[in-house]
Amino acid sequence: MIKLSVNINKFATIRNSRGGNNPDVVKAAINAQQFGADGITVHPRPDERHITYNDVREIKKIVTTEFNIEGNPREEKFIQLVLETKPHQVTLVPDAEGQLTSDHGWNTIEHKNYLTETIQIFKNAGIRVSIFIDPIIELIEAAPLTGTDRIELYTEAYAKQFNTNKKKAIEPYIKAAEKANSLGLGINAGHDLNLENLQYFSKNIPCLDEASIGHALICDALYLGFENTIQLYKRQLQ
Ligand code: PXP
Repeated sequence: MIKLSVNINKFATIRNSRGGNNPDVVKAAINAQQFGADGITVHPRPDERHITYNDVREIKKIVTTEFNIEGNPREEKFIQLVLETKPHQVTLVPDAEGQLTSDHGWNTIEHKNYLTETIQIFKNAGIRVSIFIDPIIELIEAAPLTGTDRIELYTEAYAKQFNTNKKKAIEPYIKAAEKANSLGLGINAGHDLNLENLQYFSKNIPCLDEASIGHALICDALYLGFENTIQLYKRQLQ
């Protein structure tokens, strides 16, 4: 079974645009789980422009599925938050400060020593680690040397090419997944996955563990309702 982890950052974006607590992100996490999400993902950024550090603490209290915190461990504050809240998984992302959204994965060759040291901090605390990565064979080959448990394939390039040539779009991801499987790494995927491109991806990627989806899912929920939308996404993963 491929897990669907729902990224609830966008609830916080809407809330923060007005102040107050509407919509309530804790309620969103509770509801997402009731509606069938297999996990909750949050991506606190240093400027706390959507999910705040305190949101993460509050959400942790009610997560009954799998909790995944994404972020750049460059910030000591981020490392402390993860160690304090002890999610099931931390996904390390090399996003720059103020970046609109994640737009590249780790260079596991260049940043091997840094990743190795950082990953050990989380693993010593019993937290599973995943690293965001482009589907480039040399980078996948270097990933296990960092001690990571999983990789998260950065799927924006797939999503962009899906409508013009889906076979070509998925090719590097299949090769990357085969390589990761052969090295004993778990595989997650995320970014720009949606109701059109998700099923083709999940059917073709061998041993996909989890898809982490935010933007498109929340946009669809505006039209289709949150419960219905989660069920529709889950169906694409079956
Ligand atoms: N994975 C990572 C590492 C991300 O940064 C994001 C966006 O916050 C996602 C997955 C989800 O991407 P999307 O919001 O496009 O579904």
